[in-house]
Amino acid sequence: MRIDLVSPDSFAAGHPHDQYDWLRENAPVYWHEEADGTGFWVLSRYADVYETGRNHQVFSSEPTVMMQDPPPGSEQMMGEYQMMLNMDPPKHTAFRTLIRGEFAREPAGRMQTRIAQLAAQIVDAVIDHGACDFVSDVAGEMPSFVIAEMMGLPLDDGRELYKLTEVLHTSPEARREGEAEAALGQMFGYAAKVIEQKRAHPDDDLASKLLAAEVDGRKLTDPEFQLFFLLLVDAGGDTTRNLLASGMLALMDHPEQLAWLMEDLDHRLPAAREELLRWCSPVTYMRRTAKSDFKIGDKAIKAGDKVIMYYGSANRDEAQFPQADRLNLARTPNDHLAFGGGAHVCLGQHIARVEIDAMLREVLTRMDKIQCTEPPAWLESNFISGPKTMPVSFAPRIT
Ligand code: HEM
Repeated sequence: MRIDLVSPDSFAAGHPHDQYDWLRENAPVYWHEEADGTGFWVLSRYADVYETGRNHQVFSSEPTVMMQDPPPGSEQMMGEYQMMLNMDPPKHTAFRTLIRGEFAREPAGRMQTRIAQLAAQIVDAVIDHGACDFVSDVAGEMPSFVIAEMMGLPLDDGRELYKLTEVLHTSPEARREGEAEAALGQMFGYAAKVIEQKRAHPDDDLASKLLAAEVDGRKLTDPEFQLFFLLLVDAGGDTTRNLLASGMLALMDHPEQLAWLMEDLDHRLPAAREELLRWCSPVTYMRRTAKSDFKIGDKAIKAGDKVIMYYGSANRDEAQFPQADRLNLARTPNDHLAFGGGAHVCLGQHIARVEIDAMLREVLTRMDKIQCTEPPAWLESNFISGPKTMPVSFAPRIT
């Protein structure tokens, strides 16, 4: 089996499950060469991904959780500052504590009504046309609106910011020269304006709260705020969109499962949503860097080695999920790793669940006979998995 988890081509039709299956079976801790890098360890089994994600004492999120080290340009822009995503405890804990409360299950639950309104608004905008691009017209609208609302920004700005995150998540091979740096610059420029605005007119939104909050007895510096802003916009955007679009595709591909779900949508949706998270795994991987020598299975990991956890593979591991290669919307238990695990476990998971439920409920109850009119084109990314475009047709459901 040819293993290549770097080239975006390997991800051109979704997760490379043939490679994952081979790796789990034959080389669960696999050394992957890299043409323009040091190479990295691939973890493909559930147990190894689970344990490594929880072991921040050995496996660091610094300097980055991406396969490639940060481009020199971004260091110049941000100096010694880092994003919380790229910090280890105890520093990470201090930063996460600043906003943890806003993202807990209870406040996420309180957003249900507003998120349901947004879902209705999104479907209203397309329902009479009988056709749309499900990715940009439906799935992508939801997370960009929600993060804009949370930050106290106009919804249209959320849409523009979201386009920038798309550039940042495209594999370097598939981007134009300087495109990512330009997107990063625009994002930081926008965040600088938010600082100005919210300092002058603080409100009840997350951006104002972040600016007022203190870490180690001091307020955040501007670059620290800008990086927080980037993380929040970045982390919740195309992840949620990809789950919605690839989840919808999975439902269309499994009509018997969809029919089962529709028999009792309200009760069956929570389990179905978790199975779609397992099945689609919108985040392909997260990287860690070993701080000391460590053994995983029979492989000796050396301090400084890159170790990459493949969630899409862990989530299809038979040792954890019986009949792992079958979509089973009723699956319980379902301890998937789509949101990662350990200190960095997805901060937005409760909000993501509210968004997914609201959007799927709205689509499934209002759009009948939904089907692809062209094969979906997949994102050119080895980091984020989901369709880039997915033209669909549907009939408004008569209720
Ligand atoms: C289906 C949707 C989503 C998926 C699959 C997803 C996945 C993930 C994963 C795998 C991580 C772990 C990173 C690591 O271990 O290094 C993570 C972290 C994070 N996610 Fe999500 N995410 C989703 C939605 C969201 C949303 C909607 C938000 C915000 C509104 C969000 C905010 C964050 C933040 C801030 C972190 C960093 C946490 C930290 O470093 O402590 N995510 N997410």
